[in-house]
Amino acid sequence: MVLALLIIINTTFKWIVIAQHNLTPYGTATQSSWLDGGIGHAQFAIQPPISNAFSMTICTHTNLSDKPAWWMFQFSFGSAFITEVQIYYRHGAAYRMDGFKLYVTNTSTVPPDGYLCYEDPDPGFPNITQTIPCFQFGKYVIYYDTKGDGTYGPLVELCYVAIYGCPRGMWGPNCNNACSSLCVNQHCHPGNGSCVYGCDPQQCLYTKCNIYTGACTKGCANGWEGQYCLCTRCRYIF
Ligand SMILES: *[C@@H]1O[C@H](CO)[C@@H](O)[C@H](O)[C@H]1NC(C)=O
Ligand SMILES: *[C@@H]1O[C@H](CO)[C@@H](O)[C@H](O)[C@H]1NC(C)=O
Ligand SMILES: *[C@@H]1O[C@H](CO)[C@@H](O)[C@H](O)[C@H]1NC(C)=O
Ligand SMILES: *[C@@H]1O[C@H](CO)[C@@H](O)[C@H](O)[C@H]1NC(C)=O
Repeated sequence: MVLALLIIINTTFKWIVIAQHNLTPYGTATQSSWLDGGIGHAQFAIQPPISNAFSMTICTHTNLSDKPAWWMFQFSFGSAFITEVQIYYRHGAAYRMDGFKLYVTNTSTVPPDGYLCYEDPDPGFPNITQTIPCFQFGKYVIYYDTKGDGTYGPLVELCYVAIYGCPRGMWGPNCNNACSSLCVNQHCHPGNGSCVYGCDPQQCLYTKCNIYTGACTKGCANGWEGQYCLCTRCRYIF
């Protein structure tokens, strides 16, 4: 029964298993411009429905001849460890997202100054539904386009965006496990809790520590005590 359920989850909702939490409910969106009349707001891309169906009240829409055109998401809680980004673009309008780029950054600078997760390659138009893996730590996710539509220039018409990952220092399917404080910079992979930059072995014997917990696996270096070898007189601390 459990196995059957796992198989169903694995085949039907694979992204749920690997992708962690959708973080777009926890933040705000902005964009480069609006069409006259003030519709097609940036935040429509982080509100349901989750589909490619287009209308000016459920998808974003930047102004005509706005170059570059961009859409930016900022996490309300600061930084996140992102695993992947899912994009639902306007149905039938792949030519308008031609050449788009997706970035994760630490600043709201445009052109984006950060990590380029993906650039739509030539030739051909991109899929209107994109799942882009991007293992990055950052504060902003930016959809950026300088090419797009041959007539109107780039247009951003995002109907839904999901950004999977966990807030800084957390991991697990619901992001409610804390990364070990012994992970370097307290960074761990959202999917499995292992330290991204390794564990801090400074006080460990033979500098050996557990990549998940940071606990010293071979005991402590001379003078240090406790599971994590962080104290010299542990009884006063624990
Ligand atoms: C949209 O762009 C047009 C020029 O293409 C400009 O005249 C208009 O003011 C812009 N509208 C807004 C809301 O920025
Ligand atoms: C953002 O800054 C953090 C901390 O300095 C760094 O680890 C991370 O790689 C940066 N992210 C990007 C996308 O540049
Ligand atoms: C486009 O989407 C289809 C169906 O989801 C997939 O099979 C194909 O590999 C995708 N193509 C690209 C270039 O991403
Ligand atoms: C944890 O997940 C990350 C990202 O998928 C992977 O690179 C890493 O090897 C995993 N760590 C372990 C110990 O499985």
